Amino acid sequence: MPARRGRVANRIELRVGPGLETLRALPPGEQFDFAFIDADKTGYAQYYEEVLTRLRPGGLILLDNTLQGGHVVGDLPDDEDVAAIRSLNDAIAGDPRVKAVLIPIGDGVSFVQKLGERGSEPAGHPPMTPLQSPGGTSMPSTTCGRRS
Ligand SMILES: C[S@@+](CC[C@H](N)C(=O)[O-])C[C@H]1O[C@@H](n2cnc3c(N)ncnc32)[C@H](O)[C@@H]1O
Repeated sequence: MPARRGRVANRIELRVGPGLETLRALPPGEQFDFAFIDADKTGYAQYYEEVLTRLRPGGLILLDNTLQGGHVVGDLPDDEDVAAIRSLNDAIAGDPRVKAVLIPIGDGVSFVQKLGERGSEPAGHPPMTPLQSPGGTSMPSTTCGRRS
């Protein structure tokens, strides 16, 4: 929806240009609460790093197309986009600065939350505990929820 129709034009500063250069040109100290990454797939890893350093603890990054039609698992096809996203998915899963989950809707959307100092939960967020399946086994560590 165009910003004017959404009546948010006065709250948006639109910057058009190469994503990496645009991010790197932001004023030092500029921080985000939220970022959506949905540009060229081979650039995702660099956008992720640039955004994460500017994200407040508790802030969220969404990355689109992180399933790549399912090709991020199994035999690796000769495709630079798939290779780039597969590598980034692995890096995010092992990144101690964040908690992440990949939601299998559309072509996959990853939700990545930045943790606080030394990997702690951000202030104001109660500790998350692994979800338990009905059989009592823990769900994957990237899938978390609060116990009731
Ligand atoms: C899948 S579309 C994103 C659509 C967008 N999320 C929306 O809802 O309008 C990908 C977009 O990334 C842009 N793009 C590709 N490479 C880019 C780059 N290096 N820097 C900035 N934008 C780029 C393309 O021009 C295209 O508009």
